[in-house]
Amino acid sequence: LLGALVVLLLVYFVSSTRFSSQGKGKEPPGPRPIPVLGNLLQLDLKRPYITLLKLSKKYGSVFTVYLGPQKVVVLAGYKTVKEALMNCADEFGERHPIPIAQEDNQGHGVIWSNGDSWRDMRRFTLTNLRDFGMGRKACEDKIIEECGYLVEVFKNFKGEPFNTTQSVNYSVSNIICSIIYGSRFEYNDPKFTSMVDNTNRRIKLLGSLSIQMYNLFPWIGMCVANRREIQKINTSFKVENTVIFRRLKETLDPHKCRGLVDAFLVRKQSLEDSGNTNSHFHDENLMMTVQNLFIAGTETTSTTLRWGLLLMAKYPKMQDQVQEEISRVIGSRQVQVEDRKKLPFTDAVIHETQRLANIVPLGLPHRTSQDITFQGFFIKKGTIVYPLLTSVLYDESEWEKPHSFHPAHFLDKDGKFVKRDAFMPFSAGRRMCLGEGLARMELFIFFTTLLQRFRFTPPPGVSEDELDLTPRVGFTLNPSPHKLCAVSLM
Ligand code: HEM
Repeated sequence: LLGALVVLLLVYFVSSTRFSSQGKGKEPPGPRPIPVLGNLLQLDLKRPYITLLKLSKKYGSVFTVYLGPQKVVVLAGYKTVKEALMNCADEFGERHPIPIAQEDNQGHGVIWSNGDSWRDMRRFTLTNLRDFGMGRKACEDKIIEECGYLVEVFKNFKGEPFNTTQSVNYSVSNIICSIIYGSRFEYNDPKFTSMVDNTNRRIKLLGSLSIQMYNLFPWIGMCVANRREIQKINTSFKVENTVIFRRLKETLDPHKCRGLVDAFLVRKQSLEDSGNTNSHFHDENLMMTVQNLFIAGTETTSTTLRWGLLLMAKYPKMQDQVQEEISRVIGSRQVQVEDRKKLPFTDAVIHETQRLANIVPLGLPHRTSQDITFQGFFIKKGTIVYPLLTSVLYDESEWEKPHSFHPAHFLDKDGKFVKRDAFMPFSAGRRMCLGEGLARMELFIFFTTLLQRFRFTPPPGVSEDELDLTPRVGFTLNPSPHKLCAVSLM
């Protein structure tokens, strides 16, 4: 039986790799795959984006790799990624749902869904995120308020070394809670801390080798312990949120929505009242959208912020320049979003942090919605596509010093801030990050306020040179575990 299975797999593999595009033009080139494993043995599985970057130098900006049995087309370099995601937005705009996500969300929510359900959930979420449902100023005030709590936590360490992960996670997560539920949590509320800590754990597990293998060979699922742990975490998130949703429903005032959940419930009710029984505003979409926002909105922004603090401790002269600018322009008053244009160096440092940190190096997997000939290559409908964001953020033809921390990338010769088109940490096109506006506002207020209040240094006995910038690999690229001192300035 095993022999027959292997033969079947070989036949399937050979036929799918060689003849899928017969007569429709040449397929993107790539390294020769071996049966079943494809090109896996050629990839650094811990840091696949680095191997893919190297392969793009050899095979060009559109190439094919086989991740096990999965054929993937990789898009590399600013010009190619932009052309695909923006000029051919429809063709490259579907999501490929990875098995570990698919088995949980069943096509609901925003991140892993497609079609009309995705469109409705994305539109609804964007409308609610754009202004928290309560105006831009109120949104800014919430971030400022939350940042104040984080400052107090940092102060309590009294300049002693500490790991910034947990407190930054709680703070950033509370912004999402305010948007979703309409209220924040205390940092010592066990329900809140378990939701945030579990989300963090889930993201770590998603980046583990065993889960990556499960996504390529789902039939090994029964043997993957990390998969069971992720399932447990998902279930506990759902149990917790079912209770919260029930409480929100009991106290709902349709004329005064407190957050996204209220707005969803009101829309659902009004559709039901008008006899629409087929809408996408149902309980599964509510749960998955909330879970998506909780995950996507916490880890990404808090990781970026922690990279920023680490880079400031690593490069004290840059920190001097940021603090000189803040002290000259803002003094000791509260930083506001509108101060951004008056703080070009600080703004450049935040942008350069995002560029160098490159926290979503592969992007999220896309899928072609139809057959397409792109840059002369035929790509079949349903092909998995990776827009390799590392190759954009480190594109040698776009950035003067792609591998260094160089805020001048975003400054002109007079020190004015300049936008750069190849700055694409949020991706681009139809599936572009829908939290970009919120994330940018959070990063600016948190980073500027923390640098106004504290001097960040390595722990005593550790030199700046010893602070390690090698990322810890996971679903996103995190700083390796480290401690910093936050010495109070005010
Ligand atoms: C998607 C990056 C913050 C919600 C994405 C994608 C990237 C990304 C690269 C994939 C885009 C694609 O498929 O082409 C980031 C970074 C962030 C950040 C670097 C912070 C520094 C946020 C926040 C939220 C959020 C704060 C929520 C409030 C989402 C959602 C998607 C997404 C829902 C899926 C969009 C879709 O498939 O239509 N993000 N993100 N992200 N992000 Fe973010």
